[in-house]
Amino acid sequence: MTTKVTVDVFQEINSEHQKLERQYAAFDAFLGGELVRVPVLRMRFSELAVILKCHFDHEEQGGYFEEIVEMAPRLSRLAQTLETEHDELLARLEYLDDQLSTTADVDEGFARLRKELEEFVAACRTHEHRETALMQEAWFTEIGTGD
Ligand SMILES: [Fe+2]
Repeated sequence: MTTKVTVDVFQEINSEHQKLERQYAAFDAFLGGELVRVPVLRMRFSELAVILKCHFDHEEQGGYFEEIVEMAPRLSRLAQTLETEHDELLARLEYLDDQLSTTADVDEGFARLRKELEEFVAACRTHEHRETALMQEAWFTEIGTGD
């Protein structure tokens, strides 16, 4: 049966995903700008990193994955895959942060780093979209079983 806890957890995660989408869009717009400089880029990326880490923690500890598995056990493997992706994305995030601390605006590596940051944001977006789809799938499974 769908509990109030499930509804609350899903609503919170859904609203965090919507906020994240706006933050990704803002970061992308900044990254694609003409006058991108490493110190400001590093600051913007750190801000995004904090938000992302909080969001992943929230999903892992706030019952999001547990609620999905409980509602639709057949989705547990996909839920596990997406939870594991958090570690992969966080490792990429640390790597990019390291790169930002050793790259200068004038480096030839800067263009490559910008590209990698762009790819990282795209990967985060895909990840969040899959999580939103997973949540919807669990929700419809629940409705389908009439519990
Ligand atoms: Fe998420």
